[in-house]
Amino acid sequence: MSNLEFYYKMAYCRASDESQVHWHREEIPRLLKDAVEALGGSGNALDIGCGTGVNSVFMADHGFHVTALDFAPEALTFAIKRAEKAGVEVDFKAADVTKFETAEKFDLILDSGCFHGFNDRSRLVYRDRLLKWLSVGGQYVLIHFGKRHTIGPGFIGPRARTKEKVERFFGPDLVLEDFHPETGGKPLFHYRFRRTAEYLNRAKWKSGKH
Ligand SMILES: C[S@@+](CC[C@H](N)C(=O)[O-])C[C@H]1O[C@@H](n2cnc3c(N)ncnc32)[C@H](O)[C@@H]1O
Repeated sequence: MSNLEFYYKMAYCRASDESQVHWHREEIPRLLKDAVEALGGSGNALDIGCGTGVNSVFMADHGFHVTALDFAPEALTFAIKRAEKAGVEVDFKAADVTKFETAEKFDLILDSGCFHGFNDRSRLVYRDRLLKWLSVGGQYVLIHFGKRHTIGPGFIGPRARTKEKVERFFGPDLVLEDFHPETGGKPLFHYRFRRTAEYLNRAKWKSGKH
């Protein structure tokens, strides 16, 4: 088990209820609401690192067929209870996103607080998977520790990145449609991307089928 996995596992184990998980929030991110609206409230959605399941349940409640994965089964215990209480179905999986296999395509992918924990190798694997799974025209909502300048003190947090760096990393396959940093001094940047056909074009080019 990696240090990161151990850290998350312990955080959920120590919490007697979800309010004690320090990243747990009941508030739904505005850009997730916008993505749901942009897609007309139906389709397949994937919640990467779903935690206590607040956003997974929100998407299911808004008409999406939701797959929600987290490598901490202790997180899923909270999330399953929440889905049952709300009376919605969510396909919860105890899985590491960098190893998870699926042939499914998703119209909406959410990552709230997972990607910024990855090292350089894992983030490349992650991007590859994301681009395979997200349908062309699909929405990707990312909430990531942000930093305003490349040099100088940034916000505290694992692998805080500037907006420019995140945009470069996911482009040109993903185009930024909306962005906002959290107000009130919180170190999180919110992104809403749309998937273009770039990746498919590149894959076609490589395979000679163009
Ligand atoms: C900061 S928490 C955020 C949880 C939830 N998305 C939220 O917004 O409240 C990050 C979550 O990602 C999960 N996670 C981190 N790395 C992961 C990985 N490689 N595969 C699956 N889940 C992962 C952690 O267990 C944790 O629940």
